[in-house]
Order: sequence, then structure tokens, then C-alpha cells
Amino acid sequence: MRLHLYSALALATALAWTAAALPKVSRTGRYLYTEDGTRFFIKGIAYQTQGQIVPGPDNPLNQPSTFVDNLADGNACARDLPYLQQLGVNAIRAYSANSSLNHDDCMHAFSAAGIYVILDLTLPLNGSIVTTQPSWSTNLLDQFLRTIDTFEQYDNVLAYNVGNEVMTSTTSEAAPFIMAAARDVKAYLNSIQSSALVGYAAINGNDTFVDNNAQFLACDHPDGDGGAIDLYGLNDYQWCGNASSDTFDSLNQRFANYPVAAYFSEFGGENCNPGVRVWTEVPVMFSAPMTNVWSGGAAFGYFSAMSQGHQFGMATLSSDNTSITTDADFTNLVSEYTALGTNFPTTPPQSAQPKTDNLPSCPTGWGITASGALPPTPDDAACGCLADGLLCQFVPPTPDYTVVMGDLFGVACGLLANLGDTQSCLDVSADGVSGVYGRVAMCDPTIRLSYVMSQYYELEHGAEGACSFLGNATVNYSGKAGTGGLASKCIPSASVFTPSAPPVLLPVSATASGSSTAGTKGASINGAEAKTIWVGAAACILGTFVGAVMVY
Ligand SMILES: *[C@@H]1O[C@H](CO)[C@@H](O)[C@H](O)[C@H]1NC(C)=O
Ligand SMILES: *[C@@H]1O[C@H](CO)[C@@H](O)[C@H](O)[C@H]1NC(C)=O
Ligand SMILES: *[C@@H]1O[C@H](CO)[C@@H](O)[C@H](O)[C@H]1NC(C)=O
Ligand SMILES: *[C@@H]1O[C@H](CO)[C@@H](O)[C@H](O)[C@H]1NC(C)=O
Ligand SMILES: *[C@@H]1O[C@H](CO)[C@@H](O)[C@H](O)[C@H]1NC(C)=O
Ligand SMILES: *[C@@H]1O[C@H](CO)[C@@H](O)[C@H](O)[C@H]1NC(C)=O
Ligand SMILES: *[C@@H]1O[C@H](CO)[C@@H](O)[C@H](O)[C@H]1NC(C)=O
Repeated sequence: MRLHLYSALALATALAWTAAALPKVSRTGRYLYTEDGTRFFIKGIAYQTQGQIVPGPDNPLNQPSTFVDNLADGNACARDLPYLQQLGVNAIRAYSANSSLNHDDCMHAFSAAGIYVILDLTLPLNGSIVTTQPSWSTNLLDQFLRTIDTFEQYDNVLAYNVGNEVMTSTTSEAAPFIMAAARDVKAYLNSIQSSALVGYAAINGNDTFVDNNAQFLACDHPDGDGGAIDLYGLNDYQWCGNASSDTFDSLNQRFANYPVAAYFSEFGGENCNPGVRVWTEVPVMFSAPMTNVWSGGAAFGYFSAMSQGHQFGMATLSSDNTSITTDADFTNLVSEYTALGTNFPTTPPQSAQPKTDNLPSCPTGWGITASGALPPTPDDAACGCLADGLLCQFVPPTPDYTVVMGDLFGVACGLLANLGDTQSCLDVSADGVSGVYGRVAMCDPTIRLSYVMSQYYELEHGAEGACSFLGNATVNYSGKAGTGGLASKCIPSASVFTPSAPPVLLPVSATASGSSTAGTKGASINGAEAKTIWVGAAACILGTFVGAVMVY
């Protein structure tokens, strides 16, 4: 548990909850164990309201573009808890949380009921490592770490997922970014003495695809800091309740020697009994031989959700959200989970597991289109140093600025190419297939955009209008000429390190103040000072430090 500086109140709450703490669950070898050495199985359910889905060619998997932070809605958790208790689950899986909100009511209520939480650190759209043109950059790292900082005070966080269904059967270029995220999140958790596991939830697909991706996440990458994910999740809908018990023979064989813990991060096929799932896979999943390989699963899901023409979910909300109607899926899962009870296999014992991981070396020539070379740890201080010195700055025209960024990158890179500069756009690109990561690719996309805009502005010798981009950019007259040199100074080399706590997140309105025109022309910031500023965050972003900078 991590104690925050915030207040005596938080401290008191934290201590109060320590007394009744749920036992820690950790991974030894390929299994999960509670502190007393008992094997732990995830007997779970997905607990997430489906966000809005805007279908389209950019959204082949029909991913939602909005989310509801269910864990911030204490009334709803109180409403649902009796149903979760009827199901007898010991874990829920939640897909997105807002680190600015308070989650005490839900987390404490679930903890008191013996329910752990598996939490995805991702948010829809730009809050996730994406399938095509992925990156692992400061904005995502900071979002992930802020979420961890918000949840680490609770005793019932079982695992944090760094991605859900990111690699697909047609595109695995995100794999090195997912692995780098797992590496950096794990290092951060270690640094704050957190015992939470780091997981990934994979989409199912053909054997080659599933196996190669699973192997990628659990082998000894040269840039992986010796680590792997702790908890491999497979979202698997292969098994309808009445399927024959050899359905998973092939999968079990293929995962027989998997080095880390594995579970079904979603299960509950709807294909063979549309509308009414019988859940009779449950007793099979929670007994040998499946338990030799898997550590349980999360039924999908509690709330109604539509996916690819199938209706999932078992609880329907009343129009005012105050009450729940359950359906036959719920009744059936209650009877299967009740029959199962806590009657889980106890073998093999923890003592039979290796004390330290002995990860297999990573094969060369992956069966997937991904490089084994991982991107570096995103460096807030280095990127902050660069951002502060850039001459031409992207100014978001709307709060929802991501919609214009693709266009603007296209425009800026097109203009640079016309002037014969292709390197600047490579500097901001990351290529997970070739394993080539531009030096600025780890920075927030707004900084990457300002970087290419600044390169263009300079090549145009600061010409009138060369830093306008249709009103999306403005000159910082205190910036530093020599964008390339600035990048070399701020980001001398890429490296893997333990990230520190992310900069404090301020309301959007506060960040605009103190921008730009003050200060000495030609002044800039060196990396060390920028680091202090970013860690000390608030004062800097509010503008206190403007002008108080070192001469380059
Ligand atoms: C998180 O909640 C705050 C406060 O309600 C809100 O301003 C912000 O937009 C939310 N963030 C996300 C990513 O939804
Ligand atoms: C399995 O998927 C991979 C892509 O991940 C593809 O290259 C391969 O052809 C597929 N194999 C079969 C048997 O469909
Ligand atoms: C499962 O049950 C449904 C009807 O209840 C039937 O149509 C289907 O063939 C069964 N599937 C198997 C694999 O037994
Ligand atoms: C019910 O809850 C959902 C989120 O789960 C929310 O979007 C909706 O606005 C709520 N409706 C009412 C009437 O409160
Ligand atoms: C996603 O984009 C929104 C603006 O559209 C921004 O406020 C938010 O910080 C971005 N999140 C990340 C992780 O980059
Ligand atoms: C910003 O860029 C977008 C995308 O190119 C463009 O549509 C818009 O007109 C530009 N200016 C402003 C102020 O939004
Ligand atoms: C403008 O440049 C100065 C000096 O490098 C820097 O301190 C300031 O943060 C920059 N302003 C913006 C908006 O980046």
C-alpha cells in the first residue's frame, strides 16, 4: 500500500482499511497464491458499462469512444453489490477509470465483500496504445501512473492491465509498445512497493496468432528489464456452455509451459445458446486439467453489452438507474458459481514454484509482424525540456484536439518533405515492425507536432505565416532556434529507467496562463532543471518559472 502525502484524512482512511485488508495475491511462477500460500483463482465478472460505439472503417473492432467510470459511482456499486455477492465472485474486471475521481465508496465496499479488482489502465481512443500506429509516450505513461496512484491506496487491486485486444490477427505492430508499457508500469509498481500484478488481455484468434503474441509477452526481451507480464488474459468465447470438454485440449497443450499466470480475461460464448447462456463450462474451467494451465476467468459481463450481433450482460438498469433486473444468464451463472463455491484445486503448492522467473529467451523471426526491440521509457523531463524550447508551438483549437492532429502532422510532414527534410518526421515516428523509434516519438503527441512545426518554421527562416498552420500554431519568441540541437540536448539518448510519479494534472484552463512571450529571447532549459520543474509541476505549469531559466 502506498501512503499519499495528501492529508491526514487519507492517512486515517488508509490505516483503517489496513486492518481489514484483503490478503495480497501474488504470482509465483505460473500460478497465483494468497499470502498463506493457497492457490488463488479468479472467479470473476466484467463490471463495465458499455460506452458509445461509433462504427466505421477506423473502428474495425467496434471499440467504444466514451466510458463510464463505474468504480466512481458509489450508489451504483451499492446497488450492484448484492447481485455480485449472489454470484459469489471474488473479482471484477473494470475497463477504464478516471484518475481525477474518488473511488473510495466502490473500492471499500468491494474490498469489504472480498472482491478484488482487475483494472485496465486504458481509456478509450487516445488513452490506449492503439492497434495501428501505436506509440508509448509520456501522455500514456502519465495517464497509467496517475491511475495507479489513485488506486494504490486500496487493498483490493489485483492487477492493472496495460491493454485490451490491442494486437489483432492482422496487425501486431503494437506488441513492443505493450511490452514496454508492462516493463515501465512494473518498474513503477516496484518502486512504490506495490504488489499489484501487470496484465494484458488478448483477443482470441488462430493458434499461431494467439501463441506468438502470448510468447512475446512472456519472454526475456533484451530491453525488457528482465521482466514479463504477470498475468496473461485471453478473451475467449470459444466455449459455449454445452461444448464438449475437450474444446480446450489444444489450447491447454499450447499453454502447458507458459511461464506466467494465465486466465480468461473474458469468457461466456453466446453462439450455441443465443440469449440464454448455461455457463456449464464453469466446473470444467475450475478443475484439472484446465487448472494446471489457467487461474480462472471473468465472465462477460454484468451490464448489458452488444458485440457483433450478440447480446451479452445479465443486469438491466431501470430508467432511473436505481434498480436492476436480472435475466436467465444471471440465474444460470449464480447456480454454476454457487456450486463451485471456493472449491478450487490447491496444487501445485507455492513451494514447488521457481522463486524467480526463468523466462525463455525470445525467439528471433517472430511469427508476428513485430520487432523484439522495445521502445524506451517515455521521459517526462526530457520531453518537457524540448517542449519549452520549441519555437513554433501547436495550440489546440478545441479541447478535443486529437481530431485535428492527424491532419496537421500530414500537413507539416508534407511541407517538410517538399523542403527535402524527411528526418524530422522520422524523429517523431515509432515503428513497431522494424523496431526503429524516433528520438522524439516518446513525447506527448502535442510536443511531437510542435517539433515538426518548429522544424518547418526554421527551414522557412521564421517567415511570416510559417508558424500558423491555419491558426493551429503560434510562435514562442522565447523559444530556442536550432530545433535539432535542442532535441539532442534535451534527449541525448533513449533509455530504460524506472519512471517517477507523473507531473500533477491541472485543469485545462490553468495550463494556458503564463504561456510564452515572457522571458529572455534565446533562453532555454537544460534537462536537469526541466526535471525539477516537471516533478514540482504545479508552479511551473502555472508560469512561475517562466523567465527564471538558464541561458543555453
Ligand atoms: C475525469 O473527471 C473529471 C471531473 O469530472 C472530468 O473533468 C474529466 O473530463 C474526466 N476525464 C476523463 C478522461 O473522462
Ligand atoms: C493466422 O493468423 C496469422 C496472422 O496473425 C496469419 O498470418 C496466418 O495465415 C493465420 N493462419 C491461419 C491458419 O489462418
Ligand atoms: C448446444 O445446445 C444448443 C441448443 O440448446 C444446440 O443447438 C447445440 O447444437 C448444442 N451444441 C453442442 C456443441 O452440443
Ligand atoms: C444511468 O447511468 C448511466 C451510466 O451507467 C448514465 O450514462 C446515465 O445518464 C444514467 N441515467 C440516469 C437517468 O441517471
Ligand atoms: C487525449 O486527448 C484529449 C483531447 O482530445 C486530451 O485532453 C487528453 O489529455 C489526451 N489523453 C492522452 C493520454 O493523451
Ligand atoms: C486547425 O487545423 C484543422 C485541421 O487541419 C483545420 O481544419 C482548422 O481549420 C485549423 N484551424 C483552427 C483554428 O482550428
Ligand atoms: C516559451 O519558451 C520559454 C523559454 O524556453 C519557455 O519557458 C516557455 O514554457 C515556452 N512557452 C510555451 C507555451 O511553451
